[in-house]
Amino acid sequence: PAPGWTTRADVVVVGSGIAGLTAALRVHAADPSLRLLVVTKDVLAAGSTQWAQGGIAAALGPEDTPEQHERDTLVAGAGACDSEAVRVLVTEGPAAVHELIALGTRFDHHPDGELSLTREGGHHRDRIAHAGGDATGAEIQRALIAAVERAPEIEVVQHALAVDLLLAADGGVAGLTLHVLGEGQRDGVGAVHCRAVVLASGGLGQVFSQSTNPSVSTGDGMALALRAGARVRDLEFVQFHPTVMWLGPDSQGQQPLISEAVRGEGAFLVDAEGRRFMQGQHELADLAPRDVVAKAITRRMIETGQPHVWLDARHLGLPASAASHPGDRAGGEERAAVSRFWARRFPTILRVCREHGVDPVTQLIPVAPAQHYASGGVATDLWGRTTVPGLYATGEVACSGVHGANRLASNSLLEGLVFSRRIADVLPAELRGWAEPAEDDRREGLVSGERRRVMQDLMTHRVGVLRHADGLSDALDVLGTLDPGDAVVDPAAWETTNLLTISTALAAAAALRTETRGSHWREDHPERDDTRAGHVDSWLDADGTV
Ligand code: SIN
Repeated sequence: PAPGWTTRADVVVVGSGIAGLTAALRVHAADPSLRLLVVTKDVLAAGSTQWAQGGIAAALGPEDTPEQHERDTLVAGAGACDSEAVRVLVTEGPAAVHELIALGTRFDHHPDGELSLTREGGHHRDRIAHAGGDATGAEIQRALIAAVERAPEIEVVQHALAVDLLLAADGGVAGLTLHVLGEGQRDGVGAVHCRAVVLASGGLGQVFSQSTNPSVSTGDGMALALRAGARVRDLEFVQFHPTVMWLGPDSQGQQPLISEAVRGEGAFLVDAEGRRFMQGQHELADLAPRDVVAKAITRRMIETGQPHVWLDARHLGLPASAASHPGDRAGGEERAAVSRFWARRFPTILRVCREHGVDPVTQLIPVAPAQHYASGGVATDLWGRTTVPGLYATGEVACSGVHGANRLASNSLLEGLVFSRRIADVLPAELRGWAEPAEDDRREGLVSGERRRVMQDLMTHRVGVLRHADGLSDALDVLGTLDPGDAVVDPAAWETTNLLTISTALAAAAALRTETRGSHWREDHPERDDTRAGHVDSWLDADGTV
């Protein structure tokens, strides 16, 4: 529909997690004269950053180096990383984390004042800084929001869904349309004329029935970029986190994450018969890269016919000798020590487990893989530039090339931080002039929000952890019947339309990648095939088809 209101800003940042707020703060610092607008679909803290538990990885410890972090990132990425992007990530990471600290982020420290660093799957060193035990994202989000509040020149509009880019005659950015809910004069659909857009709108978890992502993660930025003519890359590499609390067969939407850091502190997986099935599967056993553990769990679930496996963390905090006799055999003193450890190190997870009727101090936690992270996204160069002039992307919405086929644990907050800093380093100097939007001949029509559940079930069963050509082709057929129609214009319909676009691109990319690599697991092509190591790019044709 025609915009009901218009405004102007030099730069619009879409999204308010670590990537978006870092980009806004750094662009503002680079050129305070620029008019800067941050738009976010819900409230500032509603995105995925807030939910991050484990922490942020960087070579910060005395034994660690960027080269070792680089090696672990490349191994996890299974031959599909962009090595230059990884080099940037690991070498700029430590300074970026120190900057977060200078901004006011309170990471956990040892009593001697040293930063406390932990380990997660795929890391050969303790290099993960954490805060509040397991509330790292919440602390980073708090510090960033406080910093934005100290810079009132940065205008923030909450409850604003970014709908589409307005494109100039040269195909570059001329503005952005928004659907705002309840912001006074700016209520409803409106347009911001601008010279650059930084997409930092997060991931696509709601494509699937169960995800660790919050409900706002509906792939809006990726779909918007596709409709604007941008290249989207590596969408088939969807990461399924191995240990998400299993809440029963009918549980839908955001599910509780049990951080890998719990395994980093010594927890291990067992099957229904109590067997430690990760031993012997990988040199790092329970701390193998995430795709390896998720696959092993899925295999074990198929073999045993059980809907989940178990995580045993009833011995955390005990000395190694006592830890081999965990759980119900533990005496009162040992149990109190485990309980203290849990309360100090994983207070959030402890609370959530107990809310769901499981006490991890004395009971096994039922866990199963669920969607967690989009390793692919809008293709960018090393400075966050997309293929559309004036459009930048950073964080989970982007594919900078650092994650390859499987993101290394705790590299996601770091990617948003490092590449947003880089965008701010180049953007002010290369800002486009003001341009008038050209006529828009993109396809119209929206999918009703009522179709969302059908799509999510289809994607989960046909394009989930385990994929096969027959299921993928079935998924593409069904998605093809859900064409945009004449649903009423509301945020649920915008989101569902975005989910359809992204689901279709993802299923098509998964069908094209006829090999198993990283988080992309093809039952009918079970081996890695290095003749197929290149990227799968997605784009929309003029008629709007993927
Ligand atoms: C976790 O804490 O297990 C998640 C961290 C991540 O996704 O990198």
